[in-house]
Amino acid sequence: MKQPPTLLDLIADGARRLSGARVCIGHLHDNALDEARSLVLHALDLPNDWPAHLARARLLPEEVRQVQQLFDLRVEQRIPAAYLIGRAEFAGLSMKTDHRALVPRSPIAELILGSFQSLPRPVQIDHALDLCTGGGSIALALAAHHPHWRVDAADLSPDALALAAENCALLGLEGQVSLLQSDLFDAIPARRYDLIVSNPPYLTMDEYQALPAEYAHEPEMALPSGADGLDITFRILDQAPEFLTDDGLLVVEIGEAERTLRGLVPDPELRWISFSVGAMGVFAITRADLLTLKARYRGLFEKRARRR
Ligand SMILES: C[S@@+](CC[C@H](N)C(=O)[O-])C[C@H]1O[C@@H](n2cnc3c(N)ncnc32)[C@H](O)[C@@H]1O
Repeated sequence: MKQPPTLLDLIADGARRLSGARVCIGHLHDNALDEARSLVLHALDLPNDWPAHLARARLLPEEVRQVQQLFDLRVEQRIPAAYLIGRAEFAGLSMKTDHRALVPRSPIAELILGSFQSLPRPVQIDHALDLCTGGGSIALALAAHHPHWRVDAADLSPDALALAAENCALLGLEGQVSLLQSDLFDAIPARRYDLIVSNPPYLTMDEYQALPAEYAHEPEMALPSGADGLDITFRILDQAPEFLTDDGLLVVEIGEAERTLRGLVPDPELRWISFSVGAMGVFAITRADLLTLKARYRGLFEKRARRR
């Protein structure tokens, strides 16, 4: 008679199933084996550091069924693993994640862990803003890793902000982080930030429509930003100087839209950041350089503003 499977069997079978079904991996891990392990552990309510002796334990039929049901959802409905598990790691913090906001995965985590030291950041940072905060990952990581910073976190989506509020409470950061509903800077109180960080929507409509099915589970307002992906980025570039201190710094992730922005604004004032894995479409710019660029490209900024 065939033996019931072990935990390791289920992980290996799960990885084969994910690969065979050609699911899109990338929201939580970058390979099928790690994703299968996370799904199996979640289905069986086991921690990530599960005791080694469980690896070869034979599982009960009910446990095998629970694992298979979770893989069915992943493969048949293409729900990202992070949404099925309800958690994602960001900058060393465990964040609650669900369909109300993008799964946190910004490379800006690396800059937060390095305190933005590789950039021309102000000597002292007291007040930071995370614009387009989604479920709050960047704002909460800024606050958790820099306990003396005050952090504001803004988003237009009430759903995303509700998730950000839950994450803020789970991490005990309510006293340090304020959540604001705002269409970019429109409802931000008149104040100056030493640091503004943003991971805004930046896909072109064509790119958005070509995405794998997994991305349809994420909020549409988190991903596309006009025909060339830069509508929101130009609004941020235009308005940021009013909200930055004199030596303040703006950091924005725009992914593949880097190529288009470099074509329009090839100037060295936009510093494209190199990460441990290479380029990730993230730039930094000081307030002073932003004012220089805005003066140099006045026509371009006016044309983009008229498009709104
Ligand atoms: C790419 S997601 C980033 C979420 C989060 N910062 C992260 O890194 O996971 C972009 C976010 O921008 C928000 N957003 C879109 N348009 C906006 C606008 N006009 N004003 C403020 N937030 C906006 C979306 O609701 C979404 O949460």
